[in-house]
Amino acid sequence: MTTLDTLGRPLRSLRLSVTDRCNLRCHYCMPEDEYVWLPREDVLSFEETVQLTELFGQMGVDRVRLTGGEPLLRRDLPSLVAQLAAKPWIVDLALTTNGVLLADAAADLKAAGLHRVTVSLDTMRPERFTALTRRDALPQVLAGIDAARRVGFTDLKIDSVITKGDNDDEVGDLLEYGRSVGAEVRFIEYMDVGGATHWRPDAVFSRAQMLERLASIYGPIEPLPSPTSAPADRFQLPDGLAFGIIASTTQPFCRTCDRARLTADGVLLLCLYAQHGTDLRRPLRAGASPETLLNMLKAVWRGRADRGAEERRSVRGRGTYIPLSVLKKDAHLEMHTRGG
Ligand code: GTP
Ligand code: 5AD
Ligand code: SF4
Repeated sequence: MTTLDTLGRPLRSLRLSVTDRCNLRCHYCMPEDEYVWLPREDVLSFEETVQLTELFGQMGVDRVRLTGGEPLLRRDLPSLVAQLAAKPWIVDLALTTNGVLLADAAADLKAAGLHRVTVSLDTMRPERFTALTRRDALPQVLAGIDAARRVGFTDLKIDSVITKGDNDDEVGDLLEYGRSVGAEVRFIEYMDVGGATHWRPDAVFSRAQMLERLASIYGPIEPLPSPTSAPADRFQLPDGLAFGIIASTTQPFCRTCDRARLTADGVLLLCLYAQHGTDLRRPLRAGASPETLLNMLKAVWRGRADRGAEERRSVRGRGTYIPLSVLKKDAHLEMHTRGG
């Protein structure tokens, strides 16, 4: 029997953050100068990660995404990929990466059995890339995307967070780049998640604005059918090119959200906006049986009422979600800990 939460939502998708470290400092995620990292000894071993993932499989999960931080900073990631790829119940095994280290890793990831790669890329302009990420790494990212194609990843996606005045003038260029490399581009609205300490409503470039801008470049845009639990609404240009928009800020998809997150140190989060999680590392390391852990998972999911993005949307005079002083005290509140 499928375990449903209080809003009738099943658990189908697990996002495994394998490290909280990152080699970029994107302005919407890690704008501060200093961060407090998870203690290394708390980070789950691959064996522990696989043990916990197996329990999520028993809950009904069949899609697993590896995230970070930047997941390619985790040593020997292909070995985790291989262990997960061997699970027949995982029908979709994907990776979200910033692409900086992808050129070197792509072949090993493919050989290990990874199904899909999504690369975050917000600009095609080198100086702008440096300004938005504080690293001069656009050539590496483009080389990474190239390498992913070369080794045979076919379902490539590019995630672009669009912020007003920063890169909203590049929606057409990003789409054309996506076209040239055979990747589907998804434009993402700027979210006020933990870590986005510079968020303000007027920096959001909304889905409506994205569509208007694209229509002014390409002409009429048609909606495409999209699966109900997916965050991206899909569209096509008059010439047939498909793209997505993830409107988590102006049109959240909480009502169909079937995803859970596991942080690198084994904390289960039921929502991107959750302020508290359930520590699975401690019981696991204390020797709890798989049955005990599974019952814990079921009880936690049954009690899930989260619809963080919807609740945030109804806040008047919305500003930063988590004050910096609070963020600094708990790494678990950071977006780079919970995975994009
Ligand atoms: P596909 O399986 O390729 O469709 O992936 P996805 O649609 O789940 O998207 P992906 O994992 O690449 O996430 C894209 C972006 O969607 C993230 O970077 C976030 O900005 C946003 N997003 C992802 N997960 C959540 C979530 O749980 N809640 C909300 N509100 N936004 C999310
Ligand atoms: N708003 C929207 N998306 C974000 N991400 C991180 N922070 C934010 C934010 N404030 C997501 C982006 C990025 C991925 C690594 O995490 O999709 O591509
Ligand atoms: Fe799911 Fe929370 Fe994101 Fe809403 S805000 S879609 S409930 S993770």
